Amino acid sequence: MCGIVGAIAQRNITPILIEGLRRLEYRGYDSAGVAVMNDDHSIQRVRAVGKVIELEKSLSETPALGHLGIAHTRWATHGKPAEHNAHPHISDGLAVVHNGIIENHAPLRKKLKELGYAFTSETDTEVVAHLLAYHYGQSKDLLEAFRQTLGEIHGAYALAVIHEDEPETLYCSRMGSPLVIGEGVEEHYIASDPLALLQVTDCFRYLEEGDYARVSREQCDIWNIKHEAVERPVKRYEHAAHSLDKGEYRHFMLKEIYEQPEAITQTLAGTLGDDHVLTALLGPEAETRLADIEHVHIVACGTSFHAGLVARYWIEAQVGITCQVEVASEYRYRTVVVPKNTLLITISQSGETADTLAALRFAKDQGYLATLALCNVAGSSLVREANWRLLTHAGPEIGVASTKAFTTQLVALLWLTTALIQARGGDKQQIITNINALKSLPGMVEQALQLDTRIAELAERFANKHHALFLGRGTHFPIAMEGALKLKEISYIHAEAYAAGELKHGPLALVDENMPVVSVAPSGSLLEKLKSNLEEVRARGGQLITFACERVEHAEEGTAQTITLPWVEDCISPILYTIPLQLLSYHVALVKGTDVDKPRNLAKSVTVE
Ligand code: G6P
Repeated sequence: MCGIVGAIAQRNITPILIEGLRRLEYRGYDSAGVAVMNDDHSIQRVRAVGKVIELEKSLSETPALGHLGIAHTRWATHGKPAEHNAHPHISDGLAVVHNGIIENHAPLRKKLKELGYAFTSETDTEVVAHLLAYHYGQSKDLLEAFRQTLGEIHGAYALAVIHEDEPETLYCSRMGSPLVIGEGVEEHYIASDPLALLQVTDCFRYLEEGDYARVSREQCDIWNIKHEAVERPVKRYEHAAHSLDKGEYRHFMLKEIYEQPEAITQTLAGTLGDDHVLTALLGPEAETRLADIEHVHIVACGTSFHAGLVARYWIEAQVGITCQVEVASEYRYRTVVVPKNTLLITISQSGETADTLAALRFAKDQGYLATLALCNVAGSSLVREANWRLLTHAGPEIGVASTKAFTTQLVALLWLTTALIQARGGDKQQIITNINALKSLPGMVEQALQLDTRIAELAERFANKHHALFLGRGTHFPIAMEGALKLKEISYIHAEAYAAGELKHGPLALVDENMPVVSVAPSGSLLEKLKSNLEEVRARGGQLITFACERVEHAEEGTAQTITLPWVEDCISPILYTIPLQLLSYHVALVKGTDVDKPRNLAKSVTVE
């Protein structure tokens, strides 16, 4: 999704902007651009379609040097990926970059056209540039013009602006899209994600919803949505810079798959006793109110939604309370019935996904007992706006396809399930089983990672395939869904997941010798039923790939292949069986030659609706 970088310094800021854009590449984008204030106080703009490297090539032909500048990577929403649509957009001596969507762009465009402004792009952002130019033309006061502009635009945005009449100042604002201000020594920077600026600072001010700021080299003035001057404290970014390097790995995705034992260990640190879970980390209010929860609603998108689906099985079976799970884009627009004493859980790796954030805001008036954000980013909007928070400690996830964020979400959800059993005075043996299973999990994941080479061989089978089916039952049905999503995302193979019992109600018609069928078939009460489903596939010549428990016998004949994993308790089995499916999609993507870390059309953090 779009990325913003800006800087004001005594030195030339173009390298800071370019390095910042490079660090935002993982979010997904289709074009890039910079606007730099030259020493003669004129703005020089350079834009290019494609990767940041294309922008660098253009910059080597027309170098841009200056002490103030803004830069952007664009992920097309309004108008196709093209140079004329790339940011920055300019109007009467000012340049603007924008993340998000200006929802009332159409009437504003009409009004501005009537006022004589000529549009050169199809973007909603150009409206902001002209509107700001218009107001500045009226008042000749840039801060005032910025305020008036913000008052007229509706939607989600992070904005950054420079103007030739104020060559020492950068203006920015956020509403619905993240923006931070980085602190340097007599330098300031801005970015949509602190990761973009870690090469120059690890100290950040996090703007809040509706905040706007005027930033110079020495000073940073911030106002809130009510136009009151406010202080936003400087916070130190906690993640080590090395977590942003691929290190010895070929791709971030592979590195992140291999980081899972450590990520799980970090997520569990300080949360487990021998026979109880330590609920103090949820905060005093949450700790005392856990026992009151009688229903759970979970809302999330993409991979995080799949984590919620697994949790539903755990919560209903182990805690004995109802649990409903829904994608945020649907939930936020429907009439929701909220029974008394319902907890709303929003799950998000980034904590900035527009639909999930909107769902949380929508939920605030729906009479929930409380809202809880399960998130990997401590300073994110979701975490700041929910009543309670439960953090995963997976570290920054760069690969667009989520891996370690997913397994740590599952770990946190199993922990929460256990906390609910405990708070309600439930089955002590189940609490101890969950705790011991969670403690054993990092070691088990290490073992699953050793399947890498075998899975790489198996991936060759997908070289000429365009479709695949994934099957699972119970808690492993959402894992099959996640396996199919991973394969789609990074290898562009059309993959569908089915609850194995549904096979005969339609998808069986697709099965022939060209259809790979991947099944997640650990031990457990549904195993015999699943085996019958797999026989249905085998009888039709489908290419069966089964991930199974080493203690269970699976027939292996013809093209059928079984890969075994160590026995684990049922409760952690869905987490363990995620690993081989991640490896499978990774190796199939290598076979297909796709861009593993930055798959086409996708974005890491979807900050627009
Ligand atoms: C995008 C990403 C997915 C992710 C989803 C939800 O679609 O490509 O990997 O699962 O957003 O993101 P979140 O940050 O809310 O978990």
